[in-house]
Amino acid sequence: MNFYSAVRNLTFLFPPEFAHNLAIKLLQCSLVPAASEYTDPILSNNVFGLHFENPVGLAAGFDKDAECISALCRQGFGFIEVGTITLKPQPGNPKPRIFRLAQDKAIINSLGFNGKGSNCAYQNISRTTQRKILGVNIGKNKDTSDHIKDYTNLMEKFYNLADYITINISSPNTSNLKDLQRKDHLDSLLLALSGLRLGLSAKHNKHLPLLVKISPDLSIRGREGVVDSCLSHKIDGLIVSNTTIFHKDRLHSVHKHKIGGLSGIPLREPADMLLSEIYKLTEGKIPIIGVGGIFSAEDAYRKICLGASLVQVYTAIIYHGFAVVDQIKQGLVLLLRQDGFSTLKDVVGIAHK
Ligand code: FNR
Repeated sequence: MNFYSAVRNLTFLFPPEFAHNLAIKLLQCSLVPAASEYTDPILSNNVFGLHFENPVGLAAGFDKDAECISALCRQGFGFIEVGTITLKPQPGNPKPRIFRLAQDKAIINSLGFNGKGSNCAYQNISRTTQRKILGVNIGKNKDTSDHIKDYTNLMEKFYNLADYITINISSPNTSNLKDLQRKDHLDSLLLALSGLRLGLSAKHNKHLPLLVKISPDLSIRGREGVVDSCLSHKIDGLIVSNTTIFHKDRLHSVHKHKIGGLSGIPLREPADMLLSEIYKLTEGKIPIIGVGGIFSAEDAYRKICLGASLVQVYTAIIYHGFAVVDQIKQGLVLLLRQDGFSTLKDVVGIAHK
């Protein structure tokens, strides 16, 4: 039994949220061994003006308060996304709020942006010395009276610390958050953020890429609205996708009807379908990070063929540990070579050509 299987077996003895907090503590105390740092130039890609050594990132939600970035940087990822960070601390929804659906290789969570707030995350990121590309995922507080102010304050705060910012408007666990994907709401939000960015980029002499993370539960009209709005406000990237509140009927686990967002294998197909559609709607003009149900190199490769320039993982880490990152990278290199490609960029969106 390798280290990761042993840790997985140990953590699965505990309730999911306790196990998660334990994993964060182990990482903070450097008690998780570093990955092999396997890499190959074929995996590198330039996206949103940033150079990614490899395309496999850690999705938001694992390190909400940016507490263990250095340790995560040693796990083989090409980039780390922390958050969702809210302006003020908030407790999130009542517990229990994370459920393992082991038979389905899935998780349902209804955390609701629990976190220590932006001041704490700011200090944690400032103190971090070892750095990969760092995305900062931001969201509104549950009880805010002015959500635009939350997002603009957060962007301003993290402007100099982040390599990119993700505007999270797609978590299903904060009431009304997903309404911000509606074209009129999104237009107002993106207008405020892109106006602010203009001023900040002149002040700091730095163009900060802005990404929007979307829900797999968007209607067809909703998808068109989001794409329209992102194109007209010159958004640098889209993250496809967050968790889904649908697709629970075909699950097998006892927890299948728990309230919250579903991630893992059952999200794979809906997230792939949305990715494919967004790539077509944007005509490949906005780079996409593909996330949802990636457990293997084949899953990552399929997302890249459908239009993703980068990918992220979360639920696979819960079931298989960080070893899955190296497995995906090594498998991707084999798949790229097997199909006769010399760069990853050549494969992005190839399924549509
Ligand atoms: C998440 N996810 C998430 N996304 C986000 O933008 N902000 C967040 O705070 C969280 N929190 C969170 C907690 C937990 C426990 C899970 C499982 C997921 C969603 C995550 O980033 C990703 O989009 C989905 O989980 C789909 O990817 P996987 O898990 O199928 O690889």
